[in-house]
Amino acid sequence: MKHLDIAEALKSQNEGKDAVVCGWVRTFRDSAQVAFLELSDGTSFGKLQIVIDKSALAVDPECTKLGASLCVKGVLVKAYRGEGNELNAKEIHLLGKCPPEYPIQKKRTTLDFLRGIPHLRLRTNTFQAVFRVRSVAAQAIHRYFHTHGYYYINTPLITASDCEGAGEMFRVTTRPWNAAEKSEADYYKNDFFGVKAGLSVSGQLEGEVAATALGKIYTFGPSFRAENSNTKRHLAEFWHVEPEIAFAELPDVIEVAEDLLKYLIRAVLEECPEELKFFDSFVEKGLLEKLNHVVNSDFAVCTYTEAIKILEEKNAQFEFPVHWGSDLQSEHEKYLTEKIFGRPVFVTDYPKEIKSFYMKQNADGKTVAATDLLAPGIGEIIGGSEREADYGKLVAAMDERGMDKSAYAQYLDLRLFGTVPHGGFGLGFERFVMYVTGMENIRDVTLFPRSVKNIM
Ligand code: 4AD
Repeated sequence: MKHLDIAEALKSQNEGKDAVVCGWVRTFRDSAQVAFLELSDGTSFGKLQIVIDKSALAVDPECTKLGASLCVKGVLVKAYRGEGNELNAKEIHLLGKCPPEYPIQKKRTTLDFLRGIPHLRLRTNTFQAVFRVRSVAAQAIHRYFHTHGYYYINTPLITASDCEGAGEMFRVTTRPWNAAEKSEADYYKNDFFGVKAGLSVSGQLEGEVAATALGKIYTFGPSFRAENSNTKRHLAEFWHVEPEIAFAELPDVIEVAEDLLKYLIRAVLEECPEELKFFDSFVEKGLLEKLNHVVNSDFAVCTYTEAIKILEEKNAQFEFPVHWGSDLQSEHEKYLTEKIFGRPVFVTDYPKEIKSFYMKQNADGKTVAATDLLAPGIGEIIGGSEREADYGKLVAAMDERGMDKSAYAQYLDLRLFGTVPHGGFGLGFERFVMYVTGMENIRDVTLFPRSVKNIM
């Protein structure tokens, strides 16, 4: 269907010329001689006003209903009021009727209500803006890595090894439960892969394989977590950006993470000015100031041990008091980034007991060379580390955790054949989109969010 995007029609210089546009009716106003329709096709915030001279054109009432889809032919003219163009209609064709039960009505609908109609909520300004920003950010991720010499790698989604080692994998099976099988091992032996398989929680382990051959790689794809975290920041299926870098230590990893994040924020500021202005006005007051501050400031770095010292002084005000060895909860992350540092902060060198088996063990014997980037308003947005490159130490860490090493034989081999210092991190893509749009619930930056008891 040859037509002009409404974003183009609004700013076109072809005044006086014929144009065809398509879209959904957002508003309809009627008067004695003239009627006005506002049409939106999602290509911009702007809606194109369709002006109907009733003496020249009879309009089917179905074409005036909110949500109806139309194709309109007319003449582009300068808007009578405001900026841009409008279209003097010559022909209006109804593509699809829309009954009065259409749930996206003009009166403001809550995000909560819209979550119940994920197939329609993208017809609203807010969700269209979120998904335009999401698309721009995804393109910027590829551009950053491509222009910085990284190769794009696709790692498997079905795996037999649990990267984070925390048992949060969804199982992949083709077999119903069979009571005749005496043990779990028996059951898996007869399953599709012949071993226990699951959906990958991270592409990192395979990313390390690629980085220790190609130098610098990244993955950008879905990861799956079967954790029972029904929070505003957790999904069962999320998109994960994971660079992995050979010949790199923790400070190098931190440098790349900060550079990437600033690059992505700058890209969104430059390419989505209208969307960000909208979010700044209606979603998070001060968003633009926050983002401009972040791209122009150095992120803070502080060790876990220092962070605990700071937090312990405020233990009385926390629901979960901290001590050395405890995991940071979101209230602690919030306090550090918002009250203490006022900008994103890399917390480094966590106790080995609360981190994954693959992280480089520090000389103190107690901590690992890990980092989490905590950002104001959202908490952890990046998790990364230098990897343990020493075979013996890695085996010991797996043994301490009682892990089955047979599923990691190839991963261990990398440490036997020309091992190198290397590291990387994972950026949760939805968490990034939340951060730059100010949207508070991860379900509102995801087309069809999957979470505990929710697979609409
Ligand atoms: O800290 P995580 O678990 O680290 C890893 O998976 C490493 N293997 C990454 C690496 O070093 N290559 O996850 C990394 C990031 C988190 O900081 C968070 O932004 C996001 O992934 N994330 C989630 N996002 C949405 N829902 C969930 N359930 C998430 N779990 C992690």
